[in-house]
Amino acid sequence: MSRFSLDDYGELGQAISQVLIQPDELQQRIQELGQAVSQDYAGRNPLLVGVLKGVFFFMADLMRQMPIPAEVDFMAVASYSPESRRHGMVRLLKDLDRSTEGRHVLFVEDMVDTGLTLHYLLRILRARNPASLEVCALFNKPRRRLIDVPLKYKGFDLPDRFVVGYGLDYREQYRHLPFVGVLKPEVLHEPLNNRDGQRAS
Ligand code: IMP
Repeated sequence: MSRFSLDDYGELGQAISQVLIQPDELQQRIQELGQAVSQDYAGRNPLLVGVLKGVFFFMADLMRQMPIPAEVDFMAVASYSPESRRHGMVRLLKDLDRSTEGRHVLFVEDMVDTGLTLHYLLRILRARNPASLEVCALFNKPRRRLIDVPLKYKGFDLPDRFVVGYGLDYREQYRHLPFVGVLKPEVLHEPLNNRDGQRAS
């Protein structure tokens, strides 16, 4: 494992109280996920679907570990209101460019927390008659789950703590940290559930 120090990340590193997943561990697990997905989807030309923005690092790294033909497409969503967010209902800001009808769709997620957003988006995609629909989630917070969602591929289970890095943001910052860490309490002023508008992802 390569040497890694929070000091290398300047003021961003100073905001982190604890590193939960190191860069090497992330890449190792993503390689394993890429191999598993490639074995299962060989000859099926899967369409990988992601929701912007948080998933873009994972999507890029996952696809580069998949030596099979595959396509990628993205959606963007926003919450209508804090109330609708609590039910997982989201407004589509950008729909997919490609049709999913008859395609083998792999929904690629950065984080599954309550599961409500994912459940809602899977319902939308399922109604579009894909040949198959599965989920590959890098981070999972099982203790926060409010609704059961089927995760065929899963990277890491995380504790019930607010984390940043590798795509995950706090107020649009920290996405580009190549590790996953917990923010210091003095940096984290406002709990996630109080946030409104644009989905954190
Ligand atoms: P949920 O599963 O509907 O609760 O929503 C999951 C979304 O909440 C993720 O895609 C993230 O955007 C956001 N989220 C949940 N936990 C965290 C976290 O610890 N850090 C950053 N974003 C998070």
